[in-house]
Amino acid sequence: MKNIVIIISGRGSNLQALLNASLECRVRTVISSRADAAGLVFAKEKGIPCSVVSPHDHPDRASFDAALALEIDRHDPDFVVLAGFMRILTEAFVMRYLGRLINIHPSLLPAYPGMHTHAKALQDGVKIHGCTVHFVTPDLDHGPIIIQAAVPVLSRDTEQTLGERVLREEHRIYPQAVRWLCTGKVRLDENGKVIHDGIRTEDSSLISPSLEDIT
Ligand code: GRF
Repeated sequence: MKNIVIIISGRGSNLQALLNASLECRVRTVISSRADAAGLVFAKEKGIPCSVVSPHDHPDRASFDAALALEIDRHDPDFVVLAGFMRILTEAFVMRYLGRLINIHPSLLPAYPGMHTHAKALQDGVKIHGCTVHFVTPDLDHGPIIIQAAVPVLSRDTEQTLGERVLREEHRIYPQAVRWLCTGKVRLDENGKVIHDGIRTEDSSLISPSLEDIT
């Protein structure tokens, strides 16, 4: 069975979705960059060992990332899962875990990398928005994509209602992505492409607003 380490910074709803799912892996530890992260409470309740690696204890990004890597490596994980980790990682850190480091982002990448993705989607008037699980590469929020979920954007949406609709899908696709990784159905190949092995692809589509029924 594979081992994973989950890294958070805050609320931890994706962490909860992962811990509540029956993943075919062992969650060795949860590491947070903030001592007051709500996600830590839930992880401790689940009996998962937790630790904090705070950027405030380190003079720069490189030394913070080195301390984080040291803590991760103590647990010898097969995969490192970023779940709402709010720090930009150095290239050295990312390359150390290339092909083993994944992230979830609240947009249909490559649209809307960075922050405030729901506000930007509303501003642009897009009709479909969503979330993405991807391998992390040095190019921020642009790594090879494992899975995406799309949701409609409604005319009455606010940043909050749209964010909630996207978050519900995050909680579905992140456990799926981790399960695929841990069972060897998804991997990053030597050319930086995601290989999906034995995964069903469906011919469903999301059209938003819906087509009129003209029968
Ligand atoms: C999620 O929207 C995730 O996509 C993004 O940060 C947020 C974290 O939320 N990377 P939570 O801490 O998992 O509730």
